[in-house]
Amino acid sequence: MTPPSASDQATLQPGDSVLFIDQKEREYIRILRPGSVIALRGGNIPAEQFIGLAEGSLVQVGQDERFRILRPTYARLIPNLPRQAQVIYPKDIGPILLWGDIFPGARVLEVGSGPGALSMALLRAIGPAGHLLTVDIRADHCKMARNNVKRFLGAAPNWILAQTDAYQGLPVREVDRVLVDLPEPWQVVPHAREVVRPGGVLVGYLPTVLQVKSLVDALHADPGFACVEVMENMLRFWHVKDRSIRPEHRMVAHTGFIVVARRVTEAAAIQVKSEKQVRQEAQQAVAPQNEPDS
Ligand SMILES: C[S@@+](CC[C@H](N)C(=O)[O-])C[C@H]1O[C@@H](n2cnc3c(N)ncnc32)[C@H](O)[C@@H]1O
Repeated sequence: MTPPSASDQATLQPGDSVLFIDQKEREYIRILRPGSVIALRGGNIPAEQFIGLAEGSLVQVGQDERFRILRPTYARLIPNLPRQAQVIYPKDIGPILLWGDIFPGARVLEVGSGPGALSMALLRAIGPAGHLLTVDIRADHCKMARNNVKRFLGAAPNWILAQTDAYQGLPVREVDRVLVDLPEPWQVVPHAREVVRPGGVLVGYLPTVLQVKSLVDALHADPGFACVEVMENMLRFWHVKDRSIRPEHRMVAHTGFIVVARRVTEAAAIQVKSEKQVRQEAQQAVAPQNEPDS
């Protein structure tokens, strides 16, 4: 991904992951490992020939194959991410970060690593002052998420990845935000209540509407959660060329639903007084007591 301080990164470096984009906008993700050979649509080119080029260079391979070379932005990386499980796509990650209110310095729990697409977005959003704990039940998914984060984001000393069954409990306390992306998030709700601080936010991501119903029912039934909202996000790309300006013919019509809830206290309502009552009580407290008749 494009590093935050890109000025000293204007040229391609050994070990960079880069996208080769051909004239038909097809993308090929490759790593510029010194000594390796980059296989590109039939051509084999030593990686050294790309290392040191300016990012964004146009290269010609053979007679007529041309490729633009760029480090992938986050949005470009995720569709190309090595994976064994489904990822959340950038179209939904944007709203998740905003409606989940992920902020720099936040303490975040992520349930279900998959290949680490959301983990990377969370690490970028919380910054070095934040803390992310990700849990996943499968060792192979943990390994893939770890490899992807290391390869595409770099060192993440503020990230812990633990293999555990979230349906049995969550190994953390006092987080600001929890993001849940696994098949039965309603099983995680009672555990989430234990670990999210009052005022915190829970976000669930679900592909089907029966899952949404089960999660929302569980949140409504739990006195530790309120303000439940359900949304989906539609993103339509446009074709803009010469006088042909219109929506693209194809779009990804459905990915998943986003459910957001706030962690609230379960205590009984605290009686509060109106401004008038407060004023009256204050006046009574300072008013001189009537002297008893002598
Ligand atoms: C769809 S993937 C998550 C994808 C991830 N959000 C991303 O954007 O890359 C769901 C993950 O939940 C994990 N999972 C399923 N059941 C689980 C459980 N009981 N406890 C923890 N993780 C679980 C799976 O192993 C899988 O990696």
